[in-house]
Amino acid sequence: MPHVATDKPHDELLAELRAGLARAQAALQAAQADLLASHAKLQSAVRDLAAKQQELDSAQADVATLRAELAASKAILQAAQAELSSALATLESAQAQLGASHDKLKIAEEELTKLRTVSQDALDIGQTERTRRAEAERLGRIKDEFLANLSHEIRTPLNAILGWSQMLKPGKTPESELVEGLGIITRNARTQARLIDDLLDMSRIISGKMRLEVQRVDLPAVIDAAIESVKPAANAKGMKLQKVIDPLAGPVTGDPNRLQQVVWNLLINAIKFTPKGGKVQVVVERVNSHVELSVSDTGKGIAPEFLPYVFERFSQADVSIGKGFGGLGLGLAIVKSLAELHGGSVRVKSGGADKGSTFIVSLPISIVRTLDTAENLQHAKVEPHDALLHSPDLAGIKVMVVDDEADAIALVKRIMEDRGAAVKACTSGAECLACVPGLRPHVVIMDIGMREMDGYTLIGKLRALTLDQGGRTPAVALTAFARSEDRRQAMLAGFDVHVAKPVEPGELVAVVSRLARRN
Ligand SMILES: Nc1ncnc2c1ncn2[C@@H]1O[C@H](COP(=O)(O)OP(=O)(O)OP(=O)(O)O)[C@@H](O)[C@H]1O
Ligand SMILES: [Mg+2]
Repeated sequence: MPHVATDKPHDELLAELRAGLARAQAALQAAQADLLASHAKLQSAVRDLAAKQQELDSAQADVATLRAELAASKAILQAAQAELSSALATLESAQAQLGASHDKLKIAEEELTKLRTVSQDALDIGQTERTRRAEAERLGRIKDEFLANLSHEIRTPLNAILGWSQMLKPGKTPESELVEGLGIITRNARTQARLIDDLLDMSRIISGKMRLEVQRVDLPAVIDAAIESVKPAANAKGMKLQKVIDPLAGPVTGDPNRLQQVVWNLLINAIKFTPKGGKVQVVVERVNSHVELSVSDTGKGIAPEFLPYVFERFSQADVSIGKGFGGLGLGLAIVKSLAELHGGSVRVKSGGADKGSTFIVSLPISIVRTLDTAENLQHAKVEPHDALLHSPDLAGIKVMVVDDEADAIALVKRIMEDRGAAVKACTSGAECLACVPGLRPHVVIMDIGMREMDGYTLIGKLRALTLDQGGRTPAVALTAFARSEDRRQAMLAGFDVHVAKPVEPGELVAVVSRLARRN
């Protein structure tokens, strides 16, 4: 507290008081002004606050609205959730049902597959059965056609043989007619024999029993023999037969009779399928390591669609009735098999209908010389009608013929006597055995299929005789058992030669002559 000095003049004090008062008043005024300013600020703050309060109120109102909306949404959501879960439940049950259906479907599918397999199996069985039946029917048809054709081919020559043999009356028929009739009978009988040979050959080929008697073959001689035997057929049609043989063609190894059969078949086809006045040519030439033998004609040719089938057995381009060509459709099948058995092949060329045909047989050239022993060398068979005229003389030769068929004996007797042999006929094995020691024939010709004592037994007994009794007498089996196994069996039983019926007279005479000379 300020120390107030009392000795001061009063005025001064008063002035000081007044100044203090004025300062206080100024301070008060300033404070008042501050207060007013603060009041104003306060008022504005209160206003602001009121405004804020208002905003707050409105915001609160908004919040309330929002809350209400939220509540409503929640309710909706809940309802939706409820619906969703019910939908889910429905879906689940649907799924379960679907699963069950799926299982059922699977089972059904499996059943269906089984059924399909079963029905496919049934179909397959049906198909196989149908194919089998169709094949059986086809084979049946081929068999029927073959039998019909075979009976036709057998009956045709038989008709000529029976007809002419009944027409020829000894003493009544004029000589010229007799010659003509006998010629026809011979030709037709040969045709029949060839038919049977072809059938047997085919059966040998099919069963793999065709055997070749292999030796070195003089191909030109074989071709000449074949040409010789088809000449009458070619002459009858006024056809030219030409032959061109390369002398350097080289030797071949093979069975001469079978090779002759090949050439004969090709030639006879060429003549058969070529119209009158046509030309047939045989060419033999060397092509590399092979000899090629071709037979070409200017005939009816072969259609391209038939070409692949020409070598199939029983296949003929024209099978219509009255075709006039005849045959069984075996010739070329035999040719093919024989060529193949010789290690060769056969092929055909034709420009088409009426453009002629060429058949080419290719045979390997033989590189090894086989032994041409007298026993081994066979002469090609020639069968012209006058073969007998050139066959050897049998004068002074005693021949015994054993057969229980009178007709067969008569034929052999006749053939032998024609060539001057003396013949003793025996109608049984017993008679033969009884006569041989006394008669001592040069050759015995016997049948195999005899009723009382067959040929195999008889030859056994004959061979059991001593040398002096005629136990080594050369023996010929003359038999209709013509297969290669029959031939082998005959040789094993003790025969020297096996000759198949029907026999060519010339061949039998040649055989007897050879055996008699050997003895
Ligand atoms: N030179 C040829 N010209 C035209 N066609 C031919 C000739 N050679 C064969 N053919 C045809 O081939 C078929 C079969 O011939 P293949 O020699 O096998 O039988 P085929 O002569 O009818 O009877 P087969 O020979 O058994 O007596 C003949 O029927 C014929 O249609
Ligand atoms: Mg033929």
